[in-house]
Amino acid sequence: MKIKVGIFDSGIGGFTILNSLLKIRKDVEVFYLADTKRIPFGNKDSKEIRLIAKEICTFFVDKNLDALLVACNTTNACALDILEDNLKIPCFDLINSVSELVEKQIIGVLATSTTVRSSYYEKAINTKKENTIILQQECPKFVSEIEKEKLNLDKLNSLSDLYLRPLINKNIEELILGCSHYPLIYDILRKKLGPNIKIIDPSIGLIKKFNESFAIPETERCESISFENVKFFVTSERDNFSNKVKFWLGINKEIRVVNLRSN
Ligand code: SIN
Repeated sequence: MKIKVGIFDSGIGGFTILNSLLKIRKDVEVFYLADTKRIPFGNKDSKEIRLIAKEICTFFVDKNLDALLVACNTTNACALDILEDNLKIPCFDLINSVSELVEKQIIGVLATSTTVRSSYYEKAINTKKENTIILQQECPKFVSEIEKEKLNLDKLNSLSDLYLRPLINKNIEELILGCSHYPLIYDILRKKLGPNIKIIDPSIGLIKKFNESFAIPETERCESISFENVKFFVTSERDNFSNKVKFWLGINKEIRVVNLRSN
């Protein structure tokens, strides 16, 4: 019997969580939903994100899931309670998993505008680690750039300079990638940061928590990654998403378009 897992994001950001999960274990069946119709989430206000979260629940509610992996930081910050209340299954989130990964004192957080405004990272880290200085930087243009079918590396490089410079100037020691899209441009960010600033990918903490709750039988550990048990759903632009699945995950998969209900 496979563990049924839902993963959702506004787009391809959740691939970073999907990869981290499937790299380790093969006893899962995954329903991946990208709400492509409403991407980006990160510039919408909290009220709208909470409505979107309710609609996302209507998709997952009849899938008999064992767990939900909240692969979108913005929804995590604004509407985790909505997901938990509506689905009544364990919801593993990025932000509350991250504080265990923080080791140093001066921490930078790159995130969407709405996540920054929520201060959710600040609160989550400060409740577990006192005397930590958290410096947040909003990155309103990253998601739409990363979602482009053909990446514009010059643009991504100059946006990275713009967003990282204020944090580097304040001598951050660690950097949290507070949006699931950002690990997709890890190499660009790594180069700009230099060797001494540690990068924290919250998906590591999320998957660790998931694996603690759902122990992996030895026979179900992976030797190579397979997407055989993943079903992909989008709310618009199937062909475009299919190309991105091919580019980022290296696979051809059927993509289904779904309409989310408003209740
Ligand atoms: C976005 O759609 O803006 C990305 C959401 C997120 O991961 O915070």
